[in-house]
Amino acid sequence: MSDNELIQRAIKMRSQALAPYSNYKVGAAVLTESGRIFGGCNIENSSYSLTICAERVALFKAVSEGETKFKALSVSTNNAGMPCGACRQVIWDICGDIPILIADDNSLIVKTESIKLLPMPFDATKLS
Ligand code: THU
Repeated sequence: MSDNELIQRAIKMRSQALAPYSNYKVGAAVLTESGRIFGGCNIENSSYSLTICAERVALFKAVSEGETKFKALSVSTNNAGMPCGACRQVIWDICGDIPILIADDNSLIVKTESIKLLPMPFDATKLS
């Protein structure tokens, strides 16, 4: 599975975005250790706060299908936007330190990793 395949899936997922309020369409795709890709898009709501980001849709779809280990996550927007703070926490909790591939609506722009997006994270290790 190449980085480019995952990036292209995130780009494709943008077309599913339901973003009538912000008009900011986001696509995401997560690669599992078993080699499956789960896609997600942002889904906005008239109450605004019930909106869910593309990254969390992709991850929650994968987890709900029994996936527990992840290899990489890609996010696509029209301007290579970075994951929001809430998604950074969710990505860290569910995936740990994995490559994060940030794309615009065409190709990879930034390759980083989840620990760089959320340095000194809070997580389950603090709860035991
Ligand atoms: N959004 C995402 O889908 N992912 C992010 O990490 C940042 C923000 C969405 C939420 C909302 O639908 C729109 O982008 C504008 O904030």
